[in-house]
Amino acid sequence: MPWCLPRYIYRDKKTIYGPMKHPARKIAIIYATIDGQTLKICQVISKFLNKNNLQTEMYPVESFKEDPLTFDALVIGASIRYGKHSPLISNFISNNRDKLSRIKTAFFSVNLVARKKGKDDPGSNPYLTRFLKKMVWKPGLSGVFAGKLDYPSYSFIDRVMIQLIMKLTGGPTRSEKPVEYTDWEKVEEFSREICKMNDLPGSGE
Ligand SMILES: Cc1cc2nc3c(=O)[nH]c(=O)nc-3n(C[C@H](O)[C@H](O)[C@H](O)COP(=O)(O)O)c2cc1C
Repeated sequence: MPWCLPRYIYRDKKTIYGPMKHPARKIAIIYATIDGQTLKICQVISKFLNKNNLQTEMYPVESFKEDPLTFDALVIGASIRYGKHSPLISNFISNNRDKLSRIKTAFFSVNLVARKKGKDDPGSNPYLTRFLKKMVWKPGLSGVFAGKLDYPSYSFIDRVMIQLIMKLTGGPTRSEKPVEYTDWEKVEEFSREICKMNDLPGSGE
């Protein structure tokens, strides 16, 4: 013990300067999904973050009643349906704009246009760029992933509409089985970026 410090002060100093443990960081993953692909992506992200010592809590956007400021970061994911992300997500972002600016944030969009080269990154995917512009919001990290095409599960109207979209964008207009376009390596890379955003090594699996 240094000679100039009374014992009790020294003890305090030891507490302050002793080996600092990283408090576990807590991340909320908030999503809007209709057919489950965005949820599947959230689950993969969550697993990756957990392996890298980040705690996660997953919420469908409509069930998120917490204060965003009780989390170190928010990851928000939403899919596209007829050109739009869920209005629940837009409302959530608008209603929490101030709080979102005070913590780390990541946003990702899931859509089928993102299966195409040149529309598969945050700078070029029309849905994502339009959405962020409209929301006047700049998350710390943004991502875009191709989703799933599942003709057998669509209603008649949805099937016809998707066939039309596929015809226009050069995709398959029929398929007996679901086609998953999601690039899981890209999802892992995005998860690694979330780790970096939280100052953790994110060395991965
Ligand atoms: C009714 C319907 C409309 C869709 N509209 C679009 C669209 O306008 N643009 C697009 O790129 N993808 C569109 N998709 C594809 C979805 O974004 C894709 O299937 C995604 O994986 C769905 O994610 P989710 O399962 O999380 O809802 C549409 C899918 C359905 C079923």
